[in-house]
Amino acid sequence: MKGLVLSGGKGTRLRPITYTSAKQLVPVANKPVLFRVIETIRDAGVEDIGIVIGSTGPEVRAAVGDGGRWGVRITYIEQDEPLGLAHAVKISRDFLGDDRFVMFLGDNCIQGGIAPLLQQFGTSDFNAQIVLKQVATPEQYGVAVLDERGQIVRLIEKPRQPPSDLALVGIYMFDASIWEAVEAIRPSWRGELEITDAIQWLVEHGRRVFPYIHHGWWIDTGKKDDMLEANRLILEEMPASVEGFVDRDSHLIGKVIVERGAEIINSTIRGPAIIGEQTRIINAYIGPFTSIYHHCVIESAEIEHSIVLEHCTIRDLPHRLEDSLIGRHVEVTRSPRKPKAYRLVLGDHSNVGVL
Ligand code: G1P
Repeated sequence: MKGLVLSGGKGTRLRPITYTSAKQLVPVANKPVLFRVIETIRDAGVEDIGIVIGSTGPEVRAAVGDGGRWGVRITYIEQDEPLGLAHAVKISRDFLGDDRFVMFLGDNCIQGGIAPLLQQFGTSDFNAQIVLKQVATPEQYGVAVLDERGQIVRLIEKPRQPPSDLALVGIYMFDASIWEAVEAIRPSWRGELEITDAIQWLVEHGRRVFPYIHHGWWIDTGKKDDMLEANRLILEEMPASVEGFVDRDSHLIGKVIVERGAEIINSTIRGPAIIGEQTRIINAYIGPFTSIYHHCVIESAEIEHSIVLEHCTIRDLPHRLEDSLIGRHVEVTRSPRKPKAYRLVLGDHSNVGVL
Protein backbone atom coordinates (compact mmCIF):
# COMPACT_ATOMS: atom_id res chain seq x y z
CA MET A 1 0.00 0.00 0.00
CA LYS A 2 1.21 3.50 -0.81
CA GLY A 3 0.32 6.93 0.53
CA LEU A 4 -0.52 10.04 -1.46
CA VAL A 5 -0.61 13.38 0.36
CA LEU A 6 -1.98 16.47 -1.34
CA SER A 7 -0.09 19.58 -0.38
CA GLY A 8 -0.79 22.04 -3.18
CA GLY A 9 -3.52 24.66 -3.25
CA LYS A 10 -3.36 28.36 -2.56
CA GLY A 11 -4.85 28.44 0.96
CA THR A 12 -6.89 31.56 0.17
CA ARG A 13 -9.02 31.12 3.31
CA LEU A 14 -5.93 31.46 5.50
CA ARG A 15 -4.60 34.70 4.08
CA PRO A 16 -2.39 36.57 4.84
CA ILE A 17 -0.50 33.66 6.48
CA THR A 18 -0.56 31.76 3.18
CA TYR A 19 0.87 34.62 1.12
CA THR A 20 4.26 33.62 2.43
CA SER A 21 3.80 30.02 3.38
CA ALA A 22 2.01 26.77 2.58
CA LYS A 23 -1.16 26.26 4.63
CA GLN A 24 -0.14 22.67 5.33
CA LEU A 25 2.97 23.94 7.12
CA VAL A 26 1.11 26.08 9.64
CA PRO A 27 1.78 24.44 13.02
CA VAL A 28 -0.98 23.11 15.22
CA ALA A 29 0.22 22.42 18.78
CA ASN A 30 3.67 23.37 17.51
CA LYS A 31 3.84 20.84 14.68
CA PRO A 32 2.92 21.53 11.04
CA VAL A 33 -0.32 19.82 10.03
CA LEU A 34 1.52 18.16 7.12
CA PHE A 35 3.98 16.50 9.54
CA ARG A 36 1.01 15.17 11.51
CA VAL A 37 -0.43 13.74 8.28
CA ILE A 38 2.86 12.00 7.42
CA GLU A 39 3.04 10.55 10.94
CA THR A 40 -0.57 9.33 10.74
CA ILE A 41 0.16 7.48 7.48
CA ARG A 42 3.46 6.10 8.78
CA ASP A 43 1.73 4.89 11.97
CA ALA A 44 -0.68 2.94 9.77
CA GLY A 45 2.30 1.06 8.31
CA VAL A 46 2.75 2.89 4.99
CA GLU A 47 6.32 3.90 4.18
CA ASP A 48 6.14 4.92 0.54
CA ILE A 49 4.52 8.34 0.40
CA GLY A 50 4.08 10.67 -2.56
CA ILE A 51 3.42 14.36 -1.88
CA VAL A 52 1.73 16.40 -4.57
CA ILE A 53 3.08 19.95 -4.45
CA GLY A 54 2.14 23.18 -6.21
CA SER A 55 3.40 26.74 -6.04
CA THR A 56 4.58 26.29 -2.43
CA GLY A 57 6.55 23.18 -3.44
CA PRO A 58 10.03 24.50 -2.58
CA GLU A 59 8.93 25.31 0.96
CA VAL A 60 7.28 21.92 1.42
CA ARG A 61 10.40 20.13 0.09
CA ALA A 62 12.64 22.13 2.42
CA ALA A 63 10.48 21.35 5.47
CA VAL A 64 9.82 17.64 4.78
CA GLY A 65 12.99 16.52 2.98
CA ASP A 66 13.30 12.86 2.01
CA GLY A 67 11.15 11.64 4.91
CA GLY A 68 14.08 9.92 6.67
CA ARG A 69 13.19 11.73 9.87
CA TRP A 70 9.96 9.72 10.03
CA GLY A 71 11.41 6.52 8.59
CA VAL A 72 9.45 6.92 5.32
CA ARG A 73 10.41 7.53 1.68
CA ILE A 74 8.97 10.70 0.18
CA THR A 75 8.52 11.19 -3.57
CA TYR A 76 7.49 14.67 -4.75
CA ILE A 77 4.99 15.01 -7.57
CA GLU A 78 4.61 18.45 -9.13
CA GLN A 79 1.21 19.76 -10.06
CA ASP A 80 1.65 22.80 -12.29
CA GLU A 81 -1.85 24.12 -11.72
CA PRO A 82 -4.40 23.38 -8.96
CA LEU A 83 -6.85 21.58 -11.24
CA GLY A 84 -8.52 19.48 -8.57
CA LEU A 85 -8.01 16.48 -6.33
CA ALA A 86 -8.74 13.97 -9.09
CA HIS A 87 -6.19 15.76 -11.28
CA ALA A 88 -3.64 15.36 -8.48
CA VAL A 89 -4.37 11.62 -8.49
CA LYS A 90 -4.05 11.49 -12.27
CA ILE A 91 -0.57 13.00 -12.32
CA SER A 92 0.56 10.58 -9.59
CA ARG A 93 0.06 7.52 -11.80
CA ASP A 94 3.78 6.76 -12.23
CA PHE A 95 4.37 6.86 -8.52
CA LEU A 96 1.30 4.81 -7.59
CA GLY A 97 1.37 2.22 -10.36
CA ASP A 98 -1.43 -0.30 -9.78
CA ASP A 99 -0.97 -0.43 -6.00
CA ARG A 100 -3.74 0.16 -3.53
CA PHE A 101 -3.25 3.51 -1.87
CA VAL A 102 -4.56 5.95 0.71
CA MET A 103 -4.96 9.56 -0.31
CA PHE A 104 -4.83 12.09 2.53
CA LEU A 105 -5.39 15.82 2.16
CA GLY A 106 -2.42 17.60 3.72
CA ASP A 107 -4.58 20.01 5.72
CA ASN A 108 -6.79 17.42 7.44
CA CYS A 109 -6.46 16.33 11.08
CA ILE A 110 -8.27 13.26 12.37
CA GLN A 111 -8.59 11.79 15.83
CA GLY A 112 -7.30 8.29 16.39
CA GLY A 113 -5.31 7.84 13.18
CA ILE A 114 -6.13 5.52 10.27
CA ALA A 115 -4.38 2.24 11.14
CA PRO A 116 -7.55 0.09 11.58
CA LEU A 117 -9.06 1.66 8.48
CA LEU A 118 -6.06 0.86 6.29
CA GLN A 119 -5.82 -2.64 7.69
CA GLN A 120 -9.45 -3.26 6.74
CA PHE A 121 -9.02 -1.82 3.25
CA GLY A 122 -5.68 -3.55 2.67
CA THR A 123 -7.15 -6.99 3.29
CA SER A 124 -10.50 -6.39 1.57
CA ASP A 125 -11.58 -6.62 -2.06
CA PHE A 126 -13.12 -3.13 -1.95
CA ASN A 127 -12.31 -0.93 -4.93
CA ALA A 128 -12.54 2.18 -2.80
CA GLN A 129 -13.37 3.27 0.70
CA ILE A 130 -14.35 6.74 1.85
CA VAL A 131 -14.49 8.25 5.32
CA LEU A 132 -17.60 10.17 6.34
CA LYS A 133 -18.34 12.40 9.28
CA GLN A 134 -21.56 14.01 10.40
CA VAL A 135 -21.12 17.80 10.30
CA ALA A 136 -23.21 20.91 10.94
CA THR A 137 -22.25 22.65 7.66
CA PRO A 138 -22.29 19.97 4.94
CA GLU A 139 -22.53 22.56 2.14
CA GLN A 140 -18.83 23.29 2.69
CA TYR A 141 -17.77 19.75 1.80
CA GLY A 142 -18.35 16.81 -0.47
CA VAL A 143 -21.52 15.11 0.81
CA ALA A 144 -22.64 11.47 0.73
CA VAL A 145 -26.16 10.06 0.63
CA LEU A 146 -26.48 6.53 2.02
CA ASP A 147 -29.44 4.15 1.75
CA GLU A 148 -31.05 2.41 4.72
CA ARG A 149 -28.47 -0.42 4.49
CA GLY A 150 -25.65 2.10 4.72
CA GLN A 151 -24.63 1.74 1.06
CA ILE A 152 -23.56 4.79 -0.92
CA VAL A 153 -26.28 6.11 -3.20
CA ARG A 154 -24.79 9.39 -4.34
CA LEU A 155 -21.89 11.79 -3.72
CA ILE A 156 -22.09 15.52 -4.44
CA GLU A 157 -19.38 18.15 -4.13
CA LYS A 158 -20.39 21.20 -2.03
CA PRO A 159 -24.13 21.04 -2.70
CA ARG A 160 -26.12 24.24 -2.10
CA GLN A 161 -28.96 22.22 -0.62
CA PRO A 162 -27.18 19.34 1.11
CA PRO A 163 -29.26 16.14 0.93
CA SER A 164 -27.44 14.74 3.99
CA ASP A 165 -25.12 15.88 6.75
CA LEU A 166 -22.43 13.30 6.04
CA ALA A 167 -19.30 15.07 4.80
CA LEU A 168 -16.46 13.42 2.94
CA VAL A 169 -13.39 13.52 5.13
CA GLY A 170 -10.20 14.19 3.16
CA ILE A 171 -9.02 10.57 3.47
CA TYR A 172 -9.75 8.15 0.63
CA MET A 173 -8.62 4.62 -0.22
CA PHE A 174 -8.45 3.34 -3.78
CA ASP A 175 -7.33 0.43 -5.89
CA ALA A 176 -6.40 0.58 -9.57
CA SER A 177 -10.02 1.05 -10.66
CA ILE A 178 -9.64 4.75 -9.80
CA TRP A 179 -7.60 5.23 -13.03
CA GLU A 180 -10.57 4.60 -15.27
CA ALA A 181 -12.69 6.95 -13.14
CA VAL A 182 -10.30 9.92 -13.19
CA GLU A 183 -10.00 9.59 -16.97
CA ALA A 184 -13.77 9.49 -17.43
CA ILE A 185 -14.86 12.54 -15.43
CA ARG A 186 -15.03 16.13 -16.68
CA PRO A 187 -14.24 19.37 -14.77
CA SER A 188 -16.90 20.67 -12.39
CA TRP A 189 -18.46 24.16 -12.38
CA ARG A 190 -15.38 25.39 -10.51
CA GLY A 191 -13.13 24.08 -13.26
CA GLU A 192 -11.65 21.26 -11.18
CA LEU A 193 -11.53 17.51 -11.61
CA GLU A 194 -13.32 16.54 -8.40
CA ILE A 195 -12.39 13.36 -6.56
CA THR A 196 -16.02 13.30 -5.39
CA ASP A 197 -17.12 12.93 -9.05
CA ALA A 198 -14.55 10.18 -9.64
CA ILE A 199 -15.92 8.21 -6.66
CA GLN A 200 -19.49 8.83 -7.87
CA TRP A 201 -18.36 7.34 -11.22
CA LEU A 202 -17.08 4.24 -9.41
CA VAL A 203 -20.43 3.87 -7.61
CA GLU A 204 -22.40 4.30 -10.84
CA HIS A 205 -20.26 1.74 -12.63
CA GLY A 206 -20.85 -0.96 -10.04
CA ARG A 207 -17.49 -0.84 -8.30
CA ARG A 208 -17.37 -1.79 -4.63
CA VAL A 209 -17.15 1.51 -2.75
CA PHE A 210 -17.75 1.42 0.99
CA PRO A 211 -18.22 4.17 3.55
CA TYR A 212 -16.68 4.28 6.97
CA ILE A 213 -18.33 6.64 9.43
CA HIS A 214 -15.83 8.33 11.69
CA HIS A 215 -17.04 9.19 15.19
CA GLY A 216 -14.04 11.02 16.64
CA TRP A 217 -13.18 14.58 15.74
CA TRP A 218 -12.04 15.65 12.29
CA ILE A 219 -10.91 19.09 11.20
CA ASP A 220 -10.19 20.48 7.74
CA THR A 221 -7.82 23.28 8.78
CA GLY A 222 -8.62 25.61 5.89
CA LYS A 223 -9.63 28.62 8.01
CA LYS A 224 -8.39 30.39 11.14
CA ASP A 225 -11.15 29.15 13.42
CA ASP A 226 -10.60 25.58 12.23
CA MET A 227 -6.88 25.88 12.98
CA LEU A 228 -7.70 27.10 16.48
CA GLU A 229 -10.17 24.26 16.94
CA ALA A 230 -7.61 21.65 15.78
CA ASN A 231 -5.08 23.27 18.10
CA ARG A 232 -7.50 22.97 21.01
CA LEU A 233 -8.35 19.33 20.31
CA ILE A 234 -4.74 18.22 19.81
CA LEU A 235 -3.46 20.10 22.87
CA GLU A 236 -6.11 18.37 24.98
CA GLU A 237 -4.68 14.99 23.98
CA MET A 238 -1.01 15.80 24.66
CA PRO A 239 0.62 14.88 27.97
CA ALA A 240 2.32 17.57 30.05
CA SER A 241 6.10 17.79 29.90
CA VAL A 242 8.66 20.36 30.94
CA GLU A 243 12.02 20.32 29.19
CA GLY A 244 12.70 24.03 29.42
CA PHE A 245 13.33 26.30 32.41
CA VAL A 246 10.54 27.46 34.71
CA ASP A 247 11.51 29.90 37.45
CA ARG A 248 10.18 29.76 41.02
CA ASP A 249 7.82 32.67 40.52
CA SER A 250 5.97 30.99 37.68
CA HIS A 251 2.90 28.73 37.83
CA LEU A 252 2.10 25.97 35.40
CA ILE A 253 -1.52 24.89 35.84
CA GLY A 254 -2.98 21.83 34.12
CA LYS A 255 -1.41 20.26 31.03
CA VAL A 256 1.49 22.46 29.98
CA ILE A 257 4.31 21.55 27.62
CA VAL A 258 7.49 23.60 27.84
CA GLU A 259 9.84 22.61 25.05
CA ARG A 260 13.64 22.49 25.17
CA GLY A 261 15.39 25.80 25.71
CA ALA A 262 12.18 27.68 26.53
CA GLU A 263 12.16 29.96 29.59
CA ILE A 264 9.19 30.86 31.74
CA ILE A 265 9.88 33.80 34.02
CA ASN A 266 7.41 35.18 36.58
CA SER A 267 4.48 33.98 34.48
CA THR A 268 1.36 31.87 34.69
CA ILE A 269 0.58 29.28 32.07
CA ARG A 270 -2.79 27.61 32.24
CA GLY A 271 -2.94 24.48 30.09
CA PRO A 272 -3.54 22.90 27.81
CA ALA A 273 -0.82 25.00 26.24
CA ILE A 274 2.56 24.54 24.57
CA ILE A 275 5.58 26.82 24.65
CA GLY A 276 8.12 26.22 21.87
CA GLU A 277 11.88 25.84 21.86
CA GLN A 278 13.91 28.92 22.78
CA THR A 279 10.76 30.95 23.46
CA ARG A 280 10.76 33.30 26.46
CA ILE A 281 7.63 34.07 28.47
CA ILE A 282 8.23 36.93 30.89
CA ASN A 283 5.71 38.53 33.29
CA ALA A 284 2.97 37.09 31.15
CA TYR A 285 -0.17 34.96 31.23
CA ILE A 286 -0.67 32.23 28.65
CA GLY A 287 -4.19 30.86 28.79
CA PRO A 288 -5.71 27.53 27.72
CA PHE A 289 -5.59 26.28 24.12
CA THR A 290 -2.58 28.36 23.18
CA SER A 291 0.47 27.31 21.16
CA ILE A 292 3.49 29.57 21.06
CA TYR A 293 6.03 28.31 18.51
CA HIS A 294 9.81 28.58 18.73
CA HIS A 295 11.99 31.67 19.21
CA CYS A 296 9.22 34.00 20.42
CA VAL A 297 9.23 36.57 23.21
CA ILE A 298 5.99 37.15 25.12
CA GLU A 299 6.48 39.81 27.75
CA SER A 300 3.95 41.67 29.91
CA ALA A 301 1.09 40.35 27.82
CA GLU A 302 -1.82 37.91 28.09
CA ILE A 303 -2.68 35.44 25.34
CA GLU A 304 -5.44 32.84 25.24
CA HIS A 305 -6.92 30.43 22.67
CA SER A 306 -4.38 31.42 20.03
CA ILE A 307 -1.60 30.17 17.78
CA VAL A 308 1.58 32.24 17.53
CA LEU A 309 4.13 31.25 14.89
CA GLU A 310 7.91 31.43 15.20
CA HIS A 311 10.05 34.50 15.92
CA CYS A 312 7.22 36.72 17.17
CA THR A 313 7.50 39.41 19.81
CA ILE A 314 4.39 40.30 21.79
CA ARG A 315 4.98 42.86 24.49
CA ASP A 316 3.28 45.35 26.86
CA LEU A 317 -0.30 44.73 25.80
CA PRO A 318 -2.96 46.53 27.85
CA HIS A 319 -5.57 43.89 26.99
CA ARG A 320 -5.67 40.15 26.46
CA LEU A 321 -5.05 38.72 22.99
CA GLU A 322 -7.60 36.01 22.14
CA ASP A 323 -8.78 33.82 19.24
CA SER A 324 -5.77 34.93 17.20
CA LEU A 325 -3.49 33.39 14.61
CA ILE A 326 -0.25 35.34 14.42
CA GLY A 327 2.18 34.74 11.54
CA ARG A 328 5.97 34.52 11.55
CA HIS A 329 8.22 37.36 12.75
CA VAL A 330 5.27 39.48 13.84
CA GLU A 331 5.68 42.20 16.43
CA VAL A 332 2.75 43.34 18.56
CA THR A 333 3.67 46.02 21.11
CA ARG A 334 2.21 49.01 22.92
CA SER A 335 2.48 52.29 21.07
CA PRO A 336 3.12 54.90 23.81
CA ARG A 337 3.98 57.78 21.47
CA LYS A 338 1.64 60.77 21.13
CA PRO A 339 -0.76 61.22 19.50
CA LYS A 340 -2.38 58.17 21.04
CA ALA A 341 -3.10 55.94 18.06
CA TYR A 342 -2.90 52.45 16.60
CA ARG A 343 0.20 52.16 14.44
CA LEU A 344 -0.09 49.19 12.11
CA VAL A 345 1.84 47.57 9.31
CA LEU A 346 -0.51 44.87 8.04
CA GLY A 347 -0.21 42.55 5.06
CA ASP A 348 -2.97 42.18 2.48
CA HIS A 349 -6.09 40.43 3.85
CA SER A 350 -5.00 40.92 7.47
CA ASN A 351 -7.73 41.01 10.05
CA VAL A 352 -7.48 43.16 13.19
CA GLY A 353 -10.05 43.53 15.97
CA VAL A 354 -9.43 46.62 18.10
CA LEU A 355 -10.95 47.48 21.47
C1 G1P B 1 -12.05 18.90 -0.43
C2 G1P B 1 -13.02 17.97 -1.16
C3 G1P B 1 -14.29 17.78 -0.32
C4 G1P B 1 -13.94 17.28 1.06
C5 G1P B 1 -12.90 18.22 1.72
C6 G1P B 1 -12.40 17.62 3.01
O1 G1P B 1 -12.60 20.18 -0.38
O2 G1P B 1 -13.31 18.50 -2.44
O3 G1P B 1 -15.13 16.85 -0.96
O4 G1P B 1 -15.10 17.19 1.85
O5 G1P B 1 -11.78 18.43 0.87
O6 G1P B 1 -11.39 18.40 3.61
P1 G1P B 1 -11.67 21.51 -0.38
O7 G1P B 1 -11.06 21.57 1.01
O8 G1P B 1 -10.67 21.30 -1.45
O9 G1P B 1 -12.60 22.63 -0.64
